Amino acid sequence: MSVAVFPGGWLGLLGGGQLGRMFCMAAQSLGYKVAVLDPADSGPAASVADRHIHGDYDDPRSLSELAALAGAATTEFENVPAAALSFLERAIRVSPGAQSVSIAQDRIQEKSFLAGNGFAVAPHAVLRTQDDAGNADPALCPGIVKSARLGYDGKGQVRVASPAEVAQAWITMGEVPCVLERLVPLAAEVSVVVARTDEGKTSTWAVAENRHRDGILDVSIIPARVSAALADEARAVATGVATKLDYRGVLCVEMFVTKDGRLIVNEIAPRPHNSAHYTIDACVTSQFEQQARVLAGLPLGDPRLREPAVMVNLLGDIWFAEAGGGFAEAGGGFAEGGGGFAEGGAAAREPEWAAVLRHRGAKLHLYGKAEPRRGRKMGHVTCVAPALETAIDTARAIKRDLGIPGADEL
Ligand SMILES: Nc1ncnc2c1ncn2[C@@H]1O[C@H](COP(=O)(O)OP(=O)(O)O)[C@@H](O)[C@H]1O
Ligand SMILES: [Mg+2]
Repeated sequence: MSVAVFPGGWLGLLGGGQLGRMFCMAAQSLGYKVAVLDPADSGPAASVADRHIHGDYDDPRSLSELAALAGAATTEFENVPAAALSFLERAIRVSPGAQSVSIAQDRIQEKSFLAGNGFAVAPHAVLRTQDDAGNADPALCPGIVKSARLGYDGKGQVRVASPAEVAQAWITMGEVPCVLERLVPLAAEVSVVVARTDEGKTSTWAVAENRHRDGILDVSIIPARVSAALADEARAVATGVATKLDYRGVLCVEMFVTKDGRLIVNEIAPRPHNSAHYTIDACVTSQFEQQARVLAGLPLGDPRLREPAVMVNLLGDIWFAEAGGGFAEAGGGFAEGGGGFAEGGAAAREPEWAAVLRHRGAKLHLYGKAEPRRGRKMGHVTCVAPALETAIDTARAIKRDLGIPGADEL
């Protein structure tokens, strides 16, 4: 193994969101300097990066500037144009490679890659034309029409009950290439994040059990409450996917556990994942540190889980919610702390962070986003404890304190 970039050198990052912010912090902690290419004026990653290259992902001047500065570059954003990665690959080390990213960017390619390599996927069909959409297989209903590209957090999806609804959904979607997927009866959703080096060494973290709300990850519970055999199988599937992709870097494999106990691969993300944010506080090596290690050509770190953990996502909704603490004034038309943002008539109010921080084992992460919006990921809390039940109790209490729905469903 050869080290590509030694600590003290520069690493490059495409994308400016929270995943990039946490990558910057982990890389900086190893002694690296990070240059972030982000078209936005400022953002979660740019505000902590050592340099912000302010340009579009497909701007050759910005990409050249990044390649001149950094010995290696990665991405935090799966919709970065694969062409930008290919451009950088001609000059510097890039992980993950453009090829892996382009497969994960497109649900049609993703499904055919997975099925073609023997991984179980949900029954599905590709909808490219009006004809495809008008002649949907009734066996795929009830189902979900998902746009092939650019969907995230449940966006770009329409649930359908019948073939007639499929045709309508395809039009609603803007007549773009889509996948129609049959609804799978879910016992649980799990994910495994895997890191893989140039030499093909792999390492996985514990399996996370994921709960979604309105299509957005709400809570991750680690370790997932599944049998040891199923957990081993999930880790083997993730490692297998990374190997078949000849993947370099950190990859997340989202899976469904069916009611009859089978694993189905839902989708893959060619980057660190929300369901593994807990690794910062609960593991010896976080997913972001691992991303930096693989990028720089350093040995993989120990992924060991030190304590069970529960991660709760903090969406912008709680800036507008009536918290458990009894803020009867919410919606009363004044802004406080949030800098005067309003949504749906309600003024933004900074959540009461002290209520979170006073819980033993609770670690608060805020991404520094200027404007809270409903459905927008603003931060997360990781609750760690020697016993999973204790971490769940803490997560429940924090949900109540902040006015996040679903405390009783945990
Ligand atoms: N075929 C399916 N059967 C049952 N639930 C599904 C199916 N596809 C998606 N879902 C639900 O919708 C969520 C979001 O879908 P996903 O394909 O992961 O898109 P996104 O890119 O928005 O994460 C999943 O985590 C799951 O809860
Ligand atoms: Mg998903």
